[in-house]
Amino acid sequence: MSVDVLLGLQWGDEGKGKIVDFLAPKYDLVARFQGGPNAGHTLEFDGIKHVLHQIPSGIFREDKQNIIGNGVVLDPVIFMNEVSQINKKFNLSLKDILSISTRAQLISPVHRLLDKVLEENKGKNKIGSTLKGIGPTYQDKIGRHGLRVGEILSDNFKEKYDKQKSYHNYFLEGHYDNNFSDEEKTFFECINKLKEFKIVDTEYLINKNVNRKKKVLAEGAQGTLLDIDFGSYPFVTSSNTTTAGACIGLGISPKKIDKVFGIFKAYCTRVGAGPFPTELFDDIGEKIAKNGNEFGSTTGRPRRCGWLDLPALKYSIMLNGVSDLYMMKADVLSGFSEVKVCIGYEYNNEKIDYFPSSIESDSIKPIYKSFKGWTSKSNHARSFDDLEDNFKKYINFIESEVGVSIKLVSLGPDREETIYMK
Ligand code: GDP
Ligand code: IMO
Ligand code: MG
Repeated sequence: MSVDVLLGLQWGDEGKGKIVDFLAPKYDLVARFQGGPNAGHTLEFDGIKHVLHQIPSGIFREDKQNIIGNGVVLDPVIFMNEVSQINKKFNLSLKDILSISTRAQLISPVHRLLDKVLEENKGKNKIGSTLKGIGPTYQDKIGRHGLRVGEILSDNFKEKYDKQKSYHNYFLEGHYDNNFSDEEKTFFECINKLKEFKIVDTEYLINKNVNRKKKVLAEGAQGTLLDIDFGSYPFVTSSNTTTAGACIGLGISPKKIDKVFGIFKAYCTRVGAGPFPTELFDDIGEKIAKNGNEFGSTTGRPRRCGWLDLPALKYSIMLNGVSDLYMMKADVLSGFSEVKVCIGYEYNNEKIDYFPSSIESDSIKPIYKSFKGWTSKSNHARSFDDLEDNFKKYINFIESEVGVSIKLVSLGPDREETIYMK
């Protein structure tokens, strides 16, 4: 078994990018398995900060191969933009270290327009989509009229593109301004540039490597509570963000999965709409947002903040089979006199300790346990022993509640600000 999976256990932005980059030296291959440019994965090292959207977070480590898997929805325009940003800042030959699945679905200009139109039609029930065309592209995949990356190499790609466009025009025509000829021109320019990259059947590439005992790290996007099946539906994204999604999104057998690294913040955030039981609307929430610089890496929107939610965390651990927990942004909670953790909910006049399939923020009330805060600037700590006692108590309580060890604590955005535990 040589595939480890790394994914988010909350509503995304847990710090996955930082940890993939941190762990990448131990792996031969890093592969993104779902989502698309709705993701924003931030890496910081040597004083440089960089945000990746579709390109895997293993690219900055030498000798690693990176894969954009079949489960991903790829926007060629955003992809080429990412490539040129990287070329400006770094001396990297992406064409040598990156392979893209022939089966990954293409996001086209009509998908972005549809995303906007569908959101507008939802009125006050808007999901708060990143408007990158994610939902409509996955709809086309499931509806069996998606365009796959491999098809750009065939002579009749334009014909297939026009067919997909006319299918959507049936819905848009006469109702919305569906003239996107400028976007279309850029789209085809980027498609031509995309052809210069390695476009291969990545399921073979990965399985051959696994059979040769090479180590693969599967990189998730979004978070478990945004999973299309298990998240806070309908306020979710359109892919399976859970461990099973890695099997489907890369073409690997569940038997090949070894470790599952579950990444969570020491508190909770959410960007976009939807229920968030532990959300704080007071100055404490504002302080967390300020300390954690909680603004979306993709859209720049402020992230909603709240206390850590243990029933939700336990649910995510269960769904993913998490073997190792990684606690992120623990430094952000330094300096609070009191830190709270949600240990259960009051739901329809009952006390419950699970995450229900349908929640409205006003029908669910968190039950909290309170902890004394810690004060020191913790980001210079490099071992568990360096941490203040109150902070250790917080960590030990979480571990004992969820029954999985916290193997890493992150104390700052930089690669170096990380401690491996015990
Ligand atoms: P991802 O989508 O899961 O990769 O997470 P994002 O990159 O969207 O958001 C995480 C943000 O927190 C980024 O700005 C990171 O640089 C930053 N970050 C990651 N780990 C830590 C940490 O331990 N402490 C602090 N203060 N910031 C962190
Ligand atoms: P990373 O990988 C946080 C949220 C959006 C919206 C919902 C649906 O950086 O953790 P979509 O564009 O997928 O139709 O939006 O999901 N969302 C994310 N929130 N981090 C992300 O990715 C997200 N990707 C999508 O804000 O609420
Ligand atoms: Mg992010």
